Amino acid sequence: DELGDKLTSCEDITNYNNFYEFSTEKEEVASLARNFRTSPWTVKVGGLVSKPGVFDLDDLLRKYPQEERIYRLRCVEGWSMVIPWLGFPLAALLKEVEPTSRAKYVRFESLYDPEQMSGQKTDLLDWPYVEGLRLDEAMHNLTILATGLYGKPLPPQDGAPIRLVVPWKYGFKNIKSIVKMDLVEEMPVSAWMAAAPDEYGFYANVNPDVPHPRWPQSSERRIGELARRKTLPFNGYAEEVAHLYSGMDLRKFF
Ligand code: MTE
Repeated sequence: DELGDKLTSCEDITNYNNFYEFSTEKEEVASLARNFRTSPWTVKVGGLVSKPGVFDLDDLLRKYPQEERIYRLRCVEGWSMVIPWLGFPLAALLKEVEPTSRAKYVRFESLYDPEQMSGQKTDLLDWPYVEGLRLDEAMHNLTILATGLYGKPLPPQDGAPIRLVVPWKYGFKNIKSIVKMDLVEEMPVSAWMAAAPDEYGFYANVNPDVPHPRWPQSSERRIGELARRKTLPFNGYAEEVAHLYSGMDLRKFF
């Protein structure tokens, strides 16, 4: 139970997906991603760190206890879900590689493999999919690397075998199928910022007061329900995260 909200069904979570590497049709992603190879899998962590490394997914699963985290996910398109993730805090992995004092941001990259992901043969985005977080956002306890949902390993369509979950930001920040993370000094340019800078910003904190050029943001449709519900500042996580942005102009947050 998340703020008393019911979990979205596993059926909906695994059949209504945004994963443009496979398709722009949400209902098509699951079948197109069915044979995606997720093992062996490594995540290369480098950049401004003292102890860079290439981490095998099985080692990460052994080393970090997998916790269940029930979070709301709010897509900028105006729909939302409540998802029981399995995963571990991103902070645990970041502490292990020891960011240097120059590191200010984390830059994430998804797999690039057009043979498996035919969407990458289009120029819809400048592949691979890239996202970023400020280091304090990345170190926040709510920020996890998810490796499963509903108690099972992540299905390919939800970003197997490892994806980012930052529940107070719009869904597009939650980059899937991560192969690389770099600690950097400059704010990374995400794939969506490069494609449509008027529509997608770096922070992308859920904010009902900042309209998007294409989709209203004051309310949302919970998948599985008919009536719309009010969208909450920071997707309902304001108490935990609003302090990260004190002094910043929240209206400029796309
Ligand atoms: N990550 C990659 N690599 N490619 C994508 O197209 N779509 C994003 C995000 N992560 C996307 C991605 C968007 S727009 C959303 S809303 C969420 O994934 C959807 O996650 P879900 O399908 O698990 O609900």
